[in-house]
Amino acid sequence: MIIEASALRKSFRSRRKRKVTSVDAVRGVDFAVQRGEIFGFLGPNGAGKTTTLRMLATLVRPDDGEATIAGADLRSAPAQVRERIGFVAQAGGTYGQSTARRDLIHQARMYGSPRSTAKSLAEAAIRAFQLEEFADRRISTYSGGQRRRLDVALGVIHSPQVIFLDEPTAGLDPQSRARMWREVRRLRDEGMTIFLTTHYLDEADALCDRISIIDAGLIVAEGTPSDLKREISGDVIIVDLAAPDTAGAPEPATMLEASKILAEQPYVRSCETIDHTLRLYVDSAATAIPQVMRALSNKDIEPGAIESRRPSLDDVFLAKTGRTLAD
Ligand SMILES: Nc1ncnc2c1ncn2[C@@H]1O[C@H](COP(=O)(O)OP(=O)(O)OP(=O)(O)O)[C@@H](O)[C@H]1O
Ligand SMILES: [Mg+2]
Repeated sequence: MIIEASALRKSFRSRRKRKVTSVDAVRGVDFAVQRGEIFGFLGPNGAGKTTTLRMLATLVRPDDGEATIAGADLRSAPAQVRERIGFVAQAGGTYGQSTARRDLIHQARMYGSPRSTAKSLAEAAIRAFQLEEFADRRISTYSGGQRRRLDVALGVIHSPQVIFLDEPTAGLDPQSRARMWREVRRLRDEGMTIFLTTHYLDEADALCDRISIIDAGLIVAEGTPSDLKREISGDVIIVDLAAPDTAGAPEPATMLEASKILAEQPYVRSCETIDHTLRLYVDSAATAIPQVMRALSNKDIEPGAIESRRPSLDDVFLAKTGRTLAD
């Protein structure tokens, strides 16, 4: 294991007008990351992802708990941890008058490379991350995706064993996200270990070898995306109760009645209400859908749409927290 963390905890206290408020940002998390994998922290806003990452990167002191990163102990050898990792912050760095090439050279020199080595490292990074087109232009003129790629290039210029990426694709268009995924996979294939955070379900699913789902400062599930989804066996049926032609929201009373009837059906394992849809967990959608239709029409309820799909990571999140991450 290249990262092992146990019982990491962090609260923030802030004092305003003599009133002290405390936020338990991370409430004791354990996880282990294998060398050479893409490990993801998936969770909603405020779950504690950034705080955990900042603790591991020695930027915030844990209140409690232990961690070792690439063989160095977080508490007793923070300088060694820093040498062995890279860190790319959520919002990215500052984007001023400098250029990608200049920043890359500067970063390499900061990590101790002589000027000539720094120049060739920068050149290699520009090629690897496909920054050629704009490497000598002011960073303030880059697109979001171009900046993000530069951020990651800066984070790995000293060839760290582990790179921490905080929301590497937040706010990027689909094309830039796909490109970032390619870069992250390439780093893994070159032997680096990647620890990233995301609140995108599809990103956790498609990009990460293993994930931890974090909510309100606690880890609620952990495993490979497919193992986690397999825990939710069977199919998911989505019953949309909005009127088919008007897209208007159904009456609350109708929603309530429909969810009550369906929850009582023997073939429905559980039923969750999300906005104007009901999410049913069943063994087999093929046999359940006709029965759902019948049960509803017996009560003169006509759904706008019914569809089924395989369980997703959002279903895992819902099963563990009672809430959905998708919205
Ligand atoms: N320096 C701080 N002072 C006070 N509270 C903080 C501080 N940093 C974080 N918090 C609080 O700790 C909690 C966890 O924040 P954190 O940034 O770790 O969440 P996150 O999972 O990264 O969320 P997001 O997806 O929005 O980036 C939040 O309630 C946040 O407001
Ligand atoms: Mg964050």
